[in-house]
Parts: sequence; C-alpha cells; structure tokens
Amino acid sequence: SKPYVYITRNVPAESLEPLRDVAEVEMWPHKETPVPREVLLEKAKTSDALFTMLSDKIDAEVLDSAENLKVVANLAVGFDNIDVPHATEKKIAVCNTPEVLTDTTADLTFALLMATARRLPEAVDYVKNGEWQNWAPLLMAGHDVHHKTIGIVGMGRIGQTVAKRATGFDMNILYHNRSRKTEAENELGASYVSFDELIETSDFVVCMAPATNDTEDLFTYEVFEKMKSSAIFINASRGSVVVENDLEKALANKEIAAAGLDVFRHEPIGADHPLLKHSNVVALPHIGSASVETRKEMTALVSRNIRNVLEGNSPEAIVNEEVL
Ligand code: GLV
Ligand code: GLV
Repeated sequence: SKPYVYITRNVPAESLEPLRDVAEVEMWPHKETPVPREVLLEKAKTSDALFTMLSDKIDAEVLDSAENLKVVANLAVGFDNIDVPHATEKKIAVCNTPEVLTDTTADLTFALLMATARRLPEAVDYVKNGEWQNWAPLLMAGHDVHHKTIGIVGMGRIGQTVAKRATGFDMNILYHNRSRKTEAENELGASYVSFDELIETSDFVVCMAPATNDTEDLFTYEVFEKMKSSAIFINASRGSVVVENDLEKALANKEIAAAGLDVFRHEPIGADHPLLKHSNVVALPHIGSASVETRKEMTALVSRNIRNVLEGNSPEAIVNEEVL
C-alpha cells in the first residue's frame, strides 16, 4: 500500500499533486485552527511522513509515538519546533524550506524596518481615525533610514539579502555571525564586527539569527542599554532570542527608540501583550515569508522533500543529512 502522509494544516491543494501520485495524503481539514495535539499524536502513529508547520511542536513524544515515520518536513526555513537530535537518533529525516523564501523574508524585514523608522502604522491609524486636522512640521516625524548604520545579527542567506537591500539605501552595513562571510564583505561592503560593537554603534539592530542554544535570550536589558537611545531594534527571526520583559523595560526607559517585531516568544500574542502598549512598537503576526507566490513555492518544496525521502532519493533541503 501507498505510504501515508499527514499534513497538520489545511494547505492549498494544487501544490500537493507530486505527493498524491506516490502517497495517501490526509490533512487537518479546518482552515482557521491548527491540529490539536491529541490528533497529531494519533496521526503520527501511522504516518510515513509528517508535513508540519513552525507552530507544531514535534518533540520526542510525537517522534516516539510514530512507528513508520521517515521524514518530518517543515513549512519553514527554521526548525526549532522539531527535536532534531531525537529525530536523527531515530533515523528520521528533517527537511525545511530554505532559499525559496529568502527574498520574500528580506523584503518583509526591510518593510518592517522602514515602517518602524517612519512610524507608518501610527500614521495610517491617524488618518483612518480622522485625527488629521492640520499639517504640522513634525507631524509623525520618524527616523531616517538612508545613510544610517544597519547592524545585522545572523548573516545567513536572509541576513545577506537584507544587507543587499540596505545597499540601495546607502546604509553603512555591519554584521555579526558565527563565521565570517567574505562574499558579503566583498560584494555588499558589509563589515564584520563583534556583537558588542554592533549593538553599540548601529542605528538599526536587525536580528536574523536562528533559534539555537547560542541565541536564546541573546537580547537582554544589558544589551538594549548598550544600544544608542536612538536605535531601532528589528526582530524577524525567532522570539526566543529576546527577553521580552527586558525589551519592554528598555522601551519604557527610553533606552532605545522603537522596535519592529515579526516574531514573539509565545505565538500568537493577544492584544494584552505588554509590548503592544508602546506606540513605537510595530508588531506583525509572523509573516516574514507570507507572500502568495512564496507560500506556494514553500508548499511545493515540502511536497518534493517528502516525495524524495519516501522514494529513497536525497531531498533538496535536509537538516540532518547524516540520516540518509
Ligand atoms: C519562518 O519563520 C521560517 O522559519 O520559515
Ligand atoms: C537561514 O537559513 C537563512 O536563510 O538565513
């Protein structure tokens, strides 16, 4: 019989065609809600492949309940929602969606940077709420982006693509990363600096680093305190890199000027989240790669990743190559 693939969200059907040829495919049918944990555990038992979202916790319990599982393919470049060491131990492939979302995520990150610097959400609300009675010289005045210093923490593919956008704004580009990226230095004029130098001298501190043990709680009060009081903090990677209480305190104490956040520690957040009471916080619902075109590409790549593993071929994107 055909292998069984379970998809944890209702995803557009057309990108699943390559999968339907080789597998029995079932998906959580409801559009508005994620699969409940008990359903996921039940479905995992008999699955040969799981097609997962970044919001699904694929921990040891899920992996151990599965008897035939060969691949967990995540609809994301990040895979911190999956216990990769445990999957590797069980010879289960973990796949992700790099490359196809790089430009789209860099676009959103730069849009968030500009929206935060130039106070676009506040300004839009001001007009829509009928508060625009007069023009004034400093009405909704924000911060310049052009010719400023951007400091990118995490210079992977997406970080480098954000840097490429920054060149168009004549920005001075600093970066910090585990390893030097000489290509980015030569082609984009980016300068490698220590983490401390980056946070102390950047006008925009942009976090693109993945969630790892090294980046967990990286941005503490002490770090925000070292930033310029005019600095704008942008996070488009994972919420776990920020101690949110510390960021809230730093904003309250005017240690930094503003924050643009696409990600949070516990998503989704409600309207009562403490960061939202600050008018200089621009908050987005984790939409970095959310363009219609890119979500289609990502879904198709997940389908190909699953098909390749099930057919014994190398998938295009695998996190734990050693299982092959
Ligand atoms: C989104 O956050 C992703 O990891 O693709
Ligand atoms: C990480 O994989 C990135 O693309 O930046």
